[in-house]
Amino acid sequence: MEKQNLDWGSLGFGYVKTDKRYVANFKNGAWDNGALIDDATVTISECAGVLQYAQTCFEGLKAYTTEQGKIVTFRPDLNAERLATSCEGLEMPVLPKEMFLEAVKQVVKANASWVPPYGSGATLYLRPYMFGSSSVIGVKPAEEYQFRLFGTPVGPYFKGGAKPITVRISDRDRAAPHGTGNIKAGLNYAMSLHNIQDAHKEGYAENIYLDPETHTYIEETGGANILFVSKDGKKLITPKSDSILPSITRRSLVDVAKNYLNMEVEERRINKNELKDFSECGLCGTAAVISPIGKIVDHGTEICIPSGMEKFGPVLQKLYDTLTGIQMGRIEAPEGWIMEIC
Ligand code: PLP
Ligand code: COI
Repeated sequence: MEKQNLDWGSLGFGYVKTDKRYVANFKNGAWDNGALIDDATVTISECAGVLQYAQTCFEGLKAYTTEQGKIVTFRPDLNAERLATSCEGLEMPVLPKEMFLEAVKQVVKANASWVPPYGSGATLYLRPYMFGSSSVIGVKPAEEYQFRLFGTPVGPYFKGGAKPITVRISDRDRAAPHGTGNIKAGLNYAMSLHNIQDAHKEGYAENIYLDPETHTYIEETGGANILFVSKDGKKLITPKSDSILPSITRRSLVDVAKNYLNMEVEERRINKNELKDFSECGLCGTAAVISPIGKIVDHGTEICIPSGMEKFGPVLQKLYDTLTGIQMGRIEAPEGWIMEIC
């Protein structure tokens, strides 16, 4: 199969229209069979639940070309499970896991020419999403829904790739206490848009949110969980909270740290006063992979992370190399982590 004529190495994190996308509709209490289509546009009622009351949720995962030349995805079953949790939280119908996995396989196979080659530094980002498509005017769930999944080739989420970023501690919240922070609801992202634009204007790559109840503990950023490394380099520490998204990358890195790197792992509440006690810090997520943080600014106080502003610290580098090694077929994966597509 001929690859598309793209400059894979200079791709940023953006939307490029690919050939086929998967669509399934939920009507009269049941999902149809779902199919690949060409049309990249969506036509719905002006009064659709998604347009009036933001009834929508999404997922994000990637397809990789391995060293062996296969196209694979990473733990798509966990995306299917998290989408189901998001749907339950928004009173949307759950898409059966088998259908989700089938959509992933069909879209990747049909767009194989868009999957960046091994070694290019780029991947095919997959965006599954669901929305209320039928009309609602009183505040209630829609009766009809559409699930879609498309792919777009992407490079690094943050400009500069592996260069450490500067982030700020945010005064605003992304999630309410006991709210929707733990699901991937579109509304969580809509309410972060003003704050991320403001952060960019002030020269920060991202906002670190604190727990919305007491503004004391570190939660996550608008699009990634957070990792810390202890001063002695032996321990991976990551925030535990009911209002953060259970990142599949973070859960995988916890396993990698324990089982591949023999590290100790602590998942616990992290007080913002502890930031000065860590040797390395980074963001993790499907889009972000691991992005090192060099500096955190807390209302004028600069916390310079000892690993510095030039490159990854040694522990996050090892975690990054092991995770991407597993994803790209260079390192043996734990059972069930890799779904081979073609
Ligand atoms: N936290 C938020 C708010 C996110 O949007 C994402 C992205 O999906 C993550 C964390 C990372 O999750 P994952 O590793 O499953 O992509
Ligand atoms: C992902 O990492 O898949 C996300 O959904 C994050 C988003 C901010 C791009």
